[in-house]
Amino acid sequence: MSTNSALHKYASSDIGEFERIQHLVYKHTAIVISEEKKDFIRSRISKRLRELELDSLSEYCDYVESGKESVSTFTSQVTTNHTHFFRERHHFDALITHLSQSGLSGKVIWSSACSTGEEPYSIAISLLEQFDDVFTSGLKLLATDLDEKVLDIARNGVYDAGRLEPVSISQKQQCCVRGVGESTGKVRMKKPIRDLIEFSAVNLVEPLTISKRVNIIFCRNVIIYFDRKSKIKIFDSFAKIQESGDLLFIGHSESLNDISSSYSCIGNTIYRRN
Ligand SMILES: C[S@@+](CC[C@H](N)C(=O)[O-])C[C@H]1O[C@@H](n2cnc3c(N)ncnc32)[C@H](O)[C@@H]1O
Repeated sequence: MSTNSALHKYASSDIGEFERIQHLVYKHTAIVISEEKKDFIRSRISKRLRELELDSLSEYCDYVESGKESVSTFTSQVTTNHTHFFRERHHFDALITHLSQSGLSGKVIWSSACSTGEEPYSIAISLLEQFDDVFTSGLKLLATDLDEKVLDIARNGVYDAGRLEPVSISQKQQCCVRGVGESTGKVRMKKPIRDLIEFSAVNLVEPLTISKRVNIIFCRNVIIYFDRKSKIKIFDSFAKIQESGDLLFIGHSESLNDISSSYSCIGNTIYRRN
């Protein structure tokens, strides 16, 4: 079912409870949930129904529509937060090459769907390994997500040691502390690195609250779930806060073909603002 038909049916008030969920998810996130995901979504939401002692998806939709459920809590049940350190490593290599040429001074880097933080920490780790002036250059590293729960994990910066496997030993020594006692088997990002990153909630579907120039945007593995209209809107808003030569990284199965003419592809899922 297309989103348009979902909206149309919603307006006609003759609508099934799953379609109401589809509509609410689309309204708040731009994510289009297909019929095939029906059982998956039902099983995810059923835990929340039990917590709230509600009997049906329909009652839950009423609850969400009444504003009693935060958008973040609602959407966290349907979004995918999968991520890992140095995912698509070539992006971090390209980032370092770019910044080695242009310098760090005053640069703004934005991880725009940061999930549990592995992406912005991978950026920070790469920068710290390469540049001596990360903390003094005026660099800003922003990391945002729609989901408050994942943002809390990201701010805390604690991970199972196994997740740090893509991080080299010297990078770990520079950036992480090993947990002891109850925290054995965990690692934590060092405080100056946690403090380097400004974490906050941003919904990419809403008008952008960031108005300053952003030199480098990571928008990876999120728009894949959006419809074309929302993608166009998001990349239009990115184009407004980037200038010629600035970079945009997208996910491995994403593309700006027929979505934005403001960017040129300069490498595998790497784009430059025209
Ligand atoms: C699969 S993770 C990608 C994490 C990371 N960028 C990566 O590539 O590894 C997708 C993230 O997008 C977030 N997300 C989904 N819809 C969003 C929206 N409308 N605005 C901001 N973040 C959103 C989810 O909460 C989730 O954490």
